[in-house]
Amino acid sequence: MSSSSGPIAVVTGGAGFIGSHLTDRLIELGHRVVVLDDFRTGKRANLARWLTPEHGFGGASPALELVTCDVSHGIFAALAPITAKYGRVERIAHLAAQVSVVSSVANPLVDMSVNYGGTLHVLEYARAMGVAKVAFASSAAVYGDVSEMPVGEDTPTRPVSPYGIDKLASELALDYYANVHGVPATALRFFNVYGPRQDPSSPYSGVISIFADRARAGRTLTIFGDGQQTRDFVYVGDVVRGLVAALGDGNSRTVANVGTGGEITVTELARTLVELCGGKSAIEYAPQRAGEILRSRARVDRLREAFGVVAETRLVDGLRATIA
Ligand SMILES: NC(=O)c1ccc[n+]([C@@H]2O[C@H](COP(=O)([O-])OP(=O)(O)OC[C@H]3O[C@@H](n4cnc5c(N)ncnc54)[C@H](O)[C@@H]3O)[C@@H](O)[C@H]2O)c1
Repeated sequence: MSSSSGPIAVVTGGAGFIGSHLTDRLIELGHRVVVLDDFRTGKRANLARWLTPEHGFGGASPALELVTCDVSHGIFAALAPITAKYGRVERIAHLAAQVSVVSSVANPLVDMSVNYGGTLHVLEYARAMGVAKVAFASSAAVYGDVSEMPVGEDTPTRPVSPYGIDKLASELALDYYANVHGVPATALRFFNVYGPRQDPSSPYSGVISIFADRARAGRTLTIFGDGQQTRDFVYVGDVVRGLVAALGDGNSRTVANVGTGGEITVTELARTLVELCGGKSAIEYAPQRAGEILRSRARVDRLREAFGVVAETRLVDGLRATIA
């Protein structure tokens, strides 16, 4: 990939949790980054490092352009003034999405038009403008309820929510654009991502951000179900390494899981967080939530073999960074 004076990397959803960490990394690597975000869950504060006072509110360092844009309404108009100034878009990391599974169940039409529609607009742009690579943030939600662990990429996909369906539909669209229109594209299926900047205020946010927030304040942690459900929690820094590799040349039409290959129970997670925060919080159990999957653990061979990426952050280190 090229330097900040050269072609552009676009990060849709770049003001969000994962997108802002990716933006940081791409700028550190010398890229000029354009963030397209409509701020439905993202925050300018996540990009504060690059929003220097001399550029004014909403302005940014020369390495970052921050554009308010709903990608499900198209991205040509938002990018035109920037490409006129700096040249063409070389790579796109497409992370913008309505991220709540619960909202997708309540409002499937909104979810589909934002998530699937957004992907189609990104792919249309990539096709028309000859973008060199598109990397897409897919999800373990495409698998649905799977009994065999770890879950490999060839496991039959049976999503159980509109969110999972539109992530899978987006993957199919990527494959179609790669195959028929020659748009190089890669999809990464994230498992449970955690780390700094994950928003604990949303009830649908990752369990780690909610537990960390409560454990820091000495408040009770509530586990739904018996706490024996497992998750493959992967640190955001490792996910960013996967995305940077996926944005590179090669591996078009590859779909890869992004997880650690391990799993821990929610009770173990809660106990670890309470301990790291000084042991002041109690842990309580509430009835299991309908539709919650019991186990989740990624097979990660493809991530290693195709992209040379292994999630290496130990959970306890990732949790410490999250709490700090
Ligand atoms: N966090 C996880 O554990 C996880 C797991 C699997 C997949 N993912 C996927 O990773 C991506 C990033 O998720 P996140 O956890 O950082 O969530 P996030 O909510 O912090 O980030 C999503 C960003 O996209 C923006 N956005 C939403 N709809 C948009 C639209 N129509 N146009 C422009 N911007 C829009 C939001 O404002 C936000 O900044 C999403 O595609 C999500 O589905 C996340």
